[in-house]
Amino acid sequence: MIGVWVFNEWYKLGSPRPLQLVELGPGRGTLMQDVLRVLKQLGLSSTDVSIHLVEVSPELSQTQEQKLCGTSSPYIENPEDGDYFRKNITTDGSSIFWYRHLTSVPRGFTMFLANEFFDALPVSNKFRKTDNGWREVLIDIDEGDGPHHLRYLLSREGTPASKVFIKSGETRDDFEVSPETAVFCSELAMRIEADGGAALIMDYGHNGKSCNTFRAFKNHSLHDPLCEPGTADLTADVDFGFMKEQVDERLITFGPVTQSFFLINMGMEQRLHRLLRTCKEEERKNLISGYKMLTDPSKWGRDSNFAMFLSCQSFLVKYPPAGFYVDLDKE
Ligand SMILES: C[S@@+](CC[C@H](N)C(=O)[O-])C[C@H]1O[C@@H](n2cnc3c(N)ncnc32)[C@H](O)[C@@H]1O
Repeated sequence: MIGVWVFNEWYKLGSPRPLQLVELGPGRGTLMQDVLRVLKQLGLSSTDVSIHLVEVSPELSQTQEQKLCGTSSPYIENPEDGDYFRKNITTDGSSIFWYRHLTSVPRGFTMFLANEFFDALPVSNKFRKTDNGWREVLIDIDEGDGPHHLRYLLSREGTPASKVFIKSGETRDDFEVSPETAVFCSELAMRIEADGGAALIMDYGHNGKSCNTFRAFKNHSLHDPLCEPGTADLTADVDFGFMKEQVDERLITFGPVTQSFFLINMGMEQRLHRLLRTCKEEERKNLISGYKMLTDPSKWGRDSNFAMFLSCQSFLVKYPPAGFYVDLDKE
């Protein structure tokens, strides 16, 4: 469905060729593999698409390369014609590049994808409202008899970060901020405004209303983030409200909407019925349970899994992106 979305929006925006497709944090490369298969089915040839992956992990970039190219290439220290660290050709013949930073990706019309990328970025500031005003939640060595050698403590006064990140109308009394998210959003906004394109962002998140979502998981269970740091995954729900604030001056935004809303609007039910007509008997059960898993609000389709769209093309207000509702406030 994401591949169909990319094709649809790219086509609507004038189908500039080659289609520069960028994925932030491609993980194991599964989403990109699926998207490329769909673009091929929809008639795009290998030279119609160029792929650019922004990945911070050298190990994962190798996994992605194996999946998408079927071969390994050497790490490139100082490329002559760009700022990538790996380049190859996909199994279908498209050129593909890896970068450590979004700023290194070549400029030009681009369709951006980010799936479960923003929730992997650190939340480095946390704030709490007190009777004396906003304070920053800091981490200190615990020399007392607390359960860990670390403890939370509140700043004595408001900090410079609290002046930057707390808005006058803030209604929450405890929340966290990911400054790195702001940096990525500003770069996306600058590029889409100047060069054209769109971004589809999929993540667990809220629209700037949830409090205190910072948490840790170890062995699939909740874990105290201050206990044995470095041994557990840290995460916080993505704050789509904050992301929209970073791009609002430059772009039109749609959503967030729930995953089930997006997928059903994209015609996933019709797609399921088509597949069921031609699939093998043993695939039937998998297709039906996969559909239910992704769209059922009590499973992965639930409210916390949102998608969002950004674009500077003002005609999109009249002709909104597939999968989203029309934002009447913006009309
Ligand atoms: C949870 S995974 C994303 C999963 C993947 N998109 C998918 O659909 O399966 C997060 C990805 O973001 C990458 N990542 C995390 N922080 C990053 C950063 N600052 N810059 C670039 N990539 C980053 C990770 O290495 C990983 O590939």
